[in-house]
Amino acid sequence: MKKIIIINGPNLNLLGKRETNIYGTLTFMEFFNSIIKKFDNVELVHFQSNIEGELIDKLQEVGFSYDGIILNAAAYTHTSVGIGDAVKAIETPVVEVHISNTFSREDFRHKSYISPNAKGVIVGFGLQSYELAIHSFL
Ligand code: DQA
Repeated sequence: MKKIIIINGPNLNLLGKRETNIYGTLTFMEFFNSIIKKFDNVELVHFQSNIEGELIDKLQEVGFSYDGIILNAAAYTHTSVGIGDAVKAIETPVVEVHISNTFSREDFRHKSYISPNAKGVIVGFGLQSYELAIHSFL
């Protein structure tokens, strides 16, 4: 069975109550519970942190043994050389995802330190972005 982890960055623990016009009204755990049922042929794990170093620690921990990493580094996408370097350092392929279409938003969201070393990027399909990323690994 393929082992895939979804790693979510800062403020994504507030999904469902945060800027619902952009991110929707479903909590991540509601969504996650529905996809673990849907993809019962995959071992799916979820990790969320608001702390940059914890996201780097997790990438290093799983990055030599898992089959796939789905990374929504949220605001750190646009600022973190450290997370970008971690993505480059590990062996497991990383698919970068964003719920919103970052390119239709403010200019500072157009820059990503993850994309240059990602296997691919899925942007703007709401929570479905994560599902498309899972499909990409199957
Ligand atoms: C986000 C987009 C980022 O610009 C923002 O900082 C987030 C969420 C998204 O999934 O649309 O927190 O990564």
